[in-house]
Amino acid sequence: MTKKNRDVWVVKFGGSLLSDATARTGFLADAARIARKNALVLVHGGGPEINTALDKMGIQSQWVNGRRVTDEAAMAVVEGVLSGQVNKNLVGELTGFGARAVGLSGRDGRLLRAKPVPELGRVGEPDKADAALLKTLLAAGYLPVLSSVAEGPGQRALNVNADEAAAAVAVALKARRLVYLTDVPGVLDDAKKTIPEIRTRDIQRLIDTDVVRGGMIPKLMSCRAAIKKGVREINIVDGRAGLAALSGTRILP
Ligand SMILES: Nc1ncnc2c1ncn2[C@@H]1O[C@H](COP(=O)(O)OP(=O)(O)OP(=O)(O)O)[C@@H](O)[C@H]1O
Ligand SMILES: [Mg+2]
Repeated sequence: MTKKNRDVWVVKFGGSLLSDATARTGFLADAARIARKNALVLVHGGGPEINTALDKMGIQSQWVNGRRVTDEAAMAVVEGVLSGQVNKNLVGELTGFGARAVGLSGRDGRLLRAKPVPELGRVGEPDKADAALLKTLLAAGYLPVLSSVAEGPGQRALNVNADEAAAAVAVALKARRLVYLTDVPGVLDDAKKTIPEIRTRDIQRLIDTDVVRGGMIPKLMSCRAAIKKGVREINIVDGRAGLAALSGTRILP
């Protein structure tokens, strides 16, 4: 099966969308429909599921700039939950909507390698993405579903931020469009109104003035990196509104 439209879309979605049953079903049905016409790659995190699993084991998490400090024991849980439970449940649901979904992590086909951030434990920053496996799957009509676990030195697993993983994959695929689905209507200004367009040169100021905080920081930093490396269009949108509208914030060069 060849796709009618060769433009690749990369869509990242987060934990909050996964835990809202209505939003989740709506989004996965949309994704399966879009994947019939476009080459689509999904990248997911899974913060809430990881928290639940770590809580059960009595492991507490600390956060530094939106990244989870991950020791050996926590890494085993992160990989089991993200690349196992969360990834395979998504693949199952997408298959139910008629998609030819294939679950992967960054450790498969060397598709995402990361360099360690040792002060955070088993955490990495995406370093090299190799799109060969994804291209093969897309050309054959599959819908790749990627968890944010990467290959680190010695072929060991590293936990990476899913926003950064999505940006690295979008760059490697020369994606036409990168979409971040999140739990807010877009990037909000001081008055909590959605900012319709942000230029990459304005991102640092938004962070320095504290308008943008927490999980929105790695998202906007990833956007800036992806635009610099050639991704043409990036949208940060409300996952509950689905993929069709793409209202929210557009990031421009
Ligand atoms: N200016 C801002 N506009 C919008 N959201 C902001 C802003 N500053 C901080 N945030 C926070 O960023 C959050 C979105 O990032 P977050 O990392 O929590 O979600 P995600 O990346 O969609 O999901 P996940 O991290 O589970 O993959 C919002 O819920 C909000 O609390
Ligand atoms: Mg996040």
